[in-house]
Amino acid sequence: MKRLGKLGIALVVGSWLTIGVVAAQTLAQRNWVPESAFFNDALTFARIAPFIVAFGILIGIWQARNALLKGGDRIVGQSVVRHDRGTTIAHWVNATGSIVSLATGAIILGWVHWPAELRIVFLLHFVGAALKLYAVPNHLTRHGVAGGFGLIPRSWAALRDTVTEMFEYAGFFGRDRAAFGIPWPKGFRQPIARYLRGFGFKKPEGGKYLAAEQVLSYPVWGILTVVVVITGLIKTLRYVYPMPSPFIGMTTMVHDLAAIGIAVMLLVHLAPLLLVPGNWPLLKSMLTTRVPVQYVKDHHPAWYQQLLRKPAVSEPVVSVAPRADAVASLKGGD
Ligand code: HEM
Ligand code: HEM
Repeated sequence: MKRLGKLGIALVVGSWLTIGVVAAQTLAQRNWVPESAFFNDALTFARIAPFIVAFGILIGIWQARNALLKGGDRIVGQSVVRHDRGTTIAHWVNATGSIVSLATGAIILGWVHWPAELRIVFLLHFVGAALKLYAVPNHLTRHGVAGGFGLIPRSWAALRDTVTEMFEYAGFFGRDRAAFGIPWPKGFRQPIARYLRGFGFKKPEGGKYLAAEQVLSYPVWGILTVVVVITGLIKTLRYVYPMPSPFIGMTTMVHDLAAIGIAVMLLVHLAPLLLVPGNWPLLKSMLTTRVPVQYVKDHHPAWYQQLLRKPAVSEPVVSVAPRADAVASLKGGD
């Protein structure tokens, strides 16, 4: 019933978008601003944008159905499926879109020198924006319909665990999760670790997602992404629907502030993933969807316990030898 409700919402949003597209095509015929190559590119993007959003939503519904059928994260042989393929694709499409938009946005603002024609830069900005317009609604639909809300912090303990993780990265709780694997001498780090434990900074329970991902990363990404996409859409749709200049000026300012926030967040996001060897299996999981079971046991014990409560799936065994009964039937036996 709940799922039907969510599907209903997705359909309402889809129909709203369809009406928007029809209106956009009709209004666009009026050509209320002088035409230029720049203007035509932006107008074309504005007319395609709702289709991209609708496509992201439709694929998201399909992926949610598949995720429900497969049963989400699970142990398969010696590895654990951490993400489904749709999640990793949406991540990389969003990341590529963000990086292309950032680079082209910096050129448009004049922060980076660009010797050639600017039209191509605007076009590339629309390509980056289009990737985000697919990935963001796709992510929201996929998780809105089929669940998987582990990145949303649920208790205040996540705050304390975030601070503990920072101490882990500083190497006070051993080399395991230290940035660059810093090998502090035991005589130095152990008294500090004892002192920190005294203040309640104990090794986190180890759920699926790191506390820092839940507190410092996902919510900030969420806010910045919503802001940049909504302001970007307004800036795009003004080529179809006339809007007052002060409003557009304000929107542009917010769009650019969000862009700066995204540039900073990219560094915050990459530092713990690239500099902490203990987190490298997560990087691999964003490519292969999987992490080794042993890594989950060592670093995410609470998640491991949850996984154990699900039925284990063994890898399908592909055999090249013909089955004896098939051979017998070919030979005419029973
Ligand atoms: C990480 C994501 C993004 C970043 C960092 C970013 C950054 C920027 C920057 C710095 C500019 C130049 C200054 C300005 O006019 O505001 C710009 C322009 C623009 N952006 Fe974005 N943007 C992003 C995503 C988007 C998205 C998702 C859309 C559309 C849905 C979009 C639509 C536009 C438009 C229409 C312009 C103005 C082009 C024109 O002058 O007509 N942007 N963006
Ligand atoms: C602007 C571009 C990017 C955006 C908006 C982005 C966004 C996200 C978000 C929202 C998550 C979910 C967990 C979290 O918030 O920490 C995530 C996870 C992740 N990202 Fe990114 N990301 C970007 C670029 C990258 C790049 C360039 C890399 C690698 C070089 C990367 C590697 C990862 C990995 C490995 C995870 C998975 C962590 C896990 O499995 O728990 N991301 N990213």
